[in-house]
Amino acid sequence: MSYPYQIKSLDSYNEAYTKSIESPETYWGEVAENFQWRKKWDKVLEWNFKEPSIKWFQNAKLNITENCIDRHLATKGNQPAIIWEPNDPDEHHRVITYKDLYFKVTQFCHVLKNNGISKGDRVCIYMGMVPELAVAVLACARIGAIHSVIFGGFSAQSIADRLHDAHAEFIITCDGAYRGNKEIPLKSVIDDALIQCNFVKKVIVLTRTRQAVSMIKGRDVWWEDEIKKVETMGSPDFPAAEMDAEDPLFILYTSGSTGKPKGVVHSCAGYMIWTTFTFVNVFQYQPGEVHFCTADIGWITGHSYIVYGPLCSGATSLMFEGIPTWPDAGRFWEIVEKHKANIIYTAPTAIRSLMSFGEEPIQGKDLSSLRLIGTVGEPINEEAWKWYHEHIGKGKCPVIDTWWQTETGACLISNLAGVTPHKASWATLPLPGVQPVLVDEKGIEITEKDEHGFLKGNLCIKAPWPGILRTTYGDHERCRLNYFATYENLYFTGDGAIKDDQGNYRITGRVDDVLNISGHRIGTAEVENAINMHSGVVESAVVGYPHDIKGQGIYAYVIYGGKLDDQNLTRLDINSTVAKVIGAIAKPDKIQFVSGLPKTRSGKIMRRILRKIAEGETQNLGDTSTLLDPLIVDEIVKNRV
Ligand code: WTA
Repeated sequence: MSYPYQIKSLDSYNEAYTKSIESPETYWGEVAENFQWRKKWDKVLEWNFKEPSIKWFQNAKLNITENCIDRHLATKGNQPAIIWEPNDPDEHHRVITYKDLYFKVTQFCHVLKNNGISKGDRVCIYMGMVPELAVAVLACARIGAIHSVIFGGFSAQSIADRLHDAHAEFIITCDGAYRGNKEIPLKSVIDDALIQCNFVKKVIVLTRTRQAVSMIKGRDVWWEDEIKKVETMGSPDFPAAEMDAEDPLFILYTSGSTGKPKGVVHSCAGYMIWTTFTFVNVFQYQPGEVHFCTADIGWITGHSYIVYGPLCSGATSLMFEGIPTWPDAGRFWEIVEKHKANIIYTAPTAIRSLMSFGEEPIQGKDLSSLRLIGTVGEPINEEAWKWYHEHIGKGKCPVIDTWWQTETGACLISNLAGVTPHKASWATLPLPGVQPVLVDEKGIEITEKDEHGFLKGNLCIKAPWPGILRTTYGDHERCRLNYFATYENLYFTGDGAIKDDQGNYRITGRVDDVLNISGHRIGTAEVENAINMHSGVVESAVVGYPHDIKGQGIYAYVIYGGKLDDQNLTRLDINSTVAKVIGAIAKPDKIQFVSGLPKTRSGKIMRRILRKIAEGETQNLGDTSTLLDPLIVDEIVKNRV
């Protein structure tokens, strides 16, 4: 398989970029010719950001799984599609060829159908990182059901909220999941969620850990039993559903600055083109290479760069069940050596955590197969970038720093490995079709450089690329308000950035009330709501603060109404409430009990001040004269934790 749209030099990047902006319809029409369609489009692009209404490849018909699987069968049926490395290094790894994957996906399509699932249904997938997770995702896509994968770290309450929001009547899960030395009781969490969701009709349960589970008659079925029923059919061929280009492919929930997580909706055709185009270009994928993305499929990175992007490109995708530090901090490097991975793509938080173990875990590991190394999910500090480049890339591999979001489907700003230059802690240049612009609070484009010679502002994008979100599930107005209403005719990312003279971008972090904890997005409002559920809590305010490993930590200021005999015990109680309401990933790192919060006369919490205090600033807290009770600031500073 060749990739005619793979950009191979700096000159052709410049050429492609210009063409994609001047004639987007021609450019993307040509890229799209390299995919398999049931029927081609009438018009490449029609859009406005006002509603928003974005339509790519109008009236085209396709099924993304024919692009991910069927079209590779003749030429690379025996090539590994997925190599799976288990949590426990002593358990055997698994290799799933494209032929195997075809068999498993079509077989599981029958299972979905037999259980009443059809086109347009929403299916919640809550599984560990086993190959069957990829099979479940692809089977949904093949049948035309809309998958909503939920990361295995979310709580029963979070799952229930998401099931309600999408009215998902079907669930695919596992008895449990292995992560390091932990066993996560997935089915039991689902059971707790379902107490509030009696509209759920079927739960399909895969066996992984063999821990005890409760199976409800008529509702819960075992994956393996359902497969047995299909096995008697012989060849399980299952014709893929014909999907419209703009039909939803999946929902993925993500946090914003207000209220509950929103269900970001991606479309079939645009998402396929964008993930594949970026995979081939950013990673400069070469046929036969092994691509190791360490993300979980519960996040967008896993959707786009473990499943859809690599498989649409006919690549070999390496999928890992465990965590970077178990059984020891050499696990990633052992996996790279064992499977001769050519690419590793991970998060800065993992790099910083591994860095803290020093070079010993790397010693003796053969990393010579690596051609490039990449990062995603949060800003990478120069120290971590350099460590990664020197010790993992041995100074030879290009480092790609890929900036993107759940809403963007795949990378928007990144160097192309070995083709466009890398620059420590800079995401660098926009991909073809991506028109970034930095604006001030009013939405006016920044034209004046700051004292370092950079343009600095809020990062927006001027026009749609094929992989842009189409809506937020069940609430289009929310999508408009969140992304398209802050600045007229612009998509607002929520990130701040700077730009240098060469056109490189460096992302400086969120400018809204969204935290990025170990590369996971969490809204401050969400954490506050969870803390406030604790019976003793009167009010709380949550901000982020710099954290050596996690990038950002969660700092919570809490007004407590109950008795505070043992502050540490109460902290544990509050953390346990947050873990129940959202999941362990949202537990505050620091909780400070306060008698009041700095508020303006209109009752607005001055987060700017709280953020500074959390960062360790005690002197220059800015103007506090507008506060209702300026003395409260002194108390908070004095009792900092
Ligand atoms: C942040 C993950 C700096 C950013 C793919 C964005 C980054 C949010 C980078 C999206 C990067 C992601 N450099 N910051 N290379 N990549 N971010 O939706 O704040 O989980 O808005 O998507 O992560 O997080 P999400």
